[in-house]
Amino acid sequence: TTVEWEAASYDMGGHDTYMHKEIHEQADAVDRVLRGRIDDRFSTVHLGGLNLDAREARQIRRVKILGCGTSYHAGMIGAQMIEELARIPADAEPASEFRYRNAVVDPDTLYIAVSQSGETYDVLAAVQELKRKGARVLGVVNVVGSAIAREADGGIYVHAGPEVCVVSTKCFTNTTVAFALLALHLGRTRDLSVRDGKRIIEGLRKLPAQIAEMLEQEEEIKKLAQEYAEAHSMLFIGRVRGYPVAREASLKLKEVSYIHAEAYPASELKHGPLALIEPALPTVAIVPDDDLLEKNRAAMEEIKARSGKILAVAHQHQEKADQTIVVPKNEDELDPILMGIPLQLLAYHTALALGRDIDKPRNLAKSVTVE
Ligand code: AGP
Repeated sequence: TTVEWEAASYDMGGHDTYMHKEIHEQADAVDRVLRGRIDDRFSTVHLGGLNLDAREARQIRRVKILGCGTSYHAGMIGAQMIEELARIPADAEPASEFRYRNAVVDPDTLYIAVSQSGETYDVLAAVQELKRKGARVLGVVNVVGSAIAREADGGIYVHAGPEVCVVSTKCFTNTTVAFALLALHLGRTRDLSVRDGKRIIEGLRKLPAQIAEMLEQEEEIKKLAQEYAEAHSMLFIGRVRGYPVAREASLKLKEVSYIHAEAYPASELKHGPLALIEPALPTVAIVPDDDLLEKNRAAMEEIKARSGKILAVAHQHQEKADQTIVVPKNEDELDPILMGIPLQLLAYHTALALGRDIDKPRNLAKSVTVE
């Protein structure tokens, strides 16, 4: 069973669907998650509800992030940010897998539960099991006062505002920003320099305007979506920072358009998925302008050599791709935050072209409160 959402109480603000409205609310939502948290004097951020002092922050040996679906993908991005900025080994795992494999609970690990609703049963059960074993658990949650927020020892509210569409968009983006704040905070209690702290803060401040700039490309993305709506299946590839973006984009497309989609690390192509490449299987390649750019170009070349069609999401036009959606460049560590946004629009317009029930896809509910 599932919890049904109550849509009637929210104003549509001129949008035909909540998904469209929520995609377009993202610049404001990101502004909200940043508001009042940046400390320019020490090039860090204040996270009031964290309940983790500097000494405790320095004692963390590992970070384990748990969530489901889109929240799990946001957690994958968060884990990379924590490793990069705070140099703490970090990884994300689906909460349900974690709780059923009787994982070793380590006292020096900081556990983080991620959830939009704060009510997802698999996440809540993982938190309760961790707490029972004496672990410290933080929540990265949207709904204030929800079960996971109450159960956690502290955490960060992502302040995305109410998200009505079953398909999560603005909450994903805000969660990745909340993780950037946490990574910066942990980094600045450890070895992240003032200069790097400043650099990340400047990058964070650019996000709302860059999101607005990104959303201006909606008409072109809509045209692409009309083309891709004919596909029976799509492949999404990315490398390191691009991989969780590919996973989230693939989930978005499949849940709202019902087109089969699969995400793969670009480096794994040659270990199997290349066998699938043919003109009828389009690939979406996440190609950030970072130190892996050449590697990603090589992956696109492999696909082209097998007559595969490629849509690149990149910071500059990609010659190897058939089409490129150009995303504004931010700091390398923050790039995943923006790269998912055009792919939300692609999923949305593909679903619209196919006449899908966008706000309430078949077989799904906003909050899954049972096993
Ligand atoms: C998102 O588009 C999905 N509908 C779904 O994967 C969702 O993210 C997942 O069920 C977790 O929900 P939560 O964030 O409320 O815990």
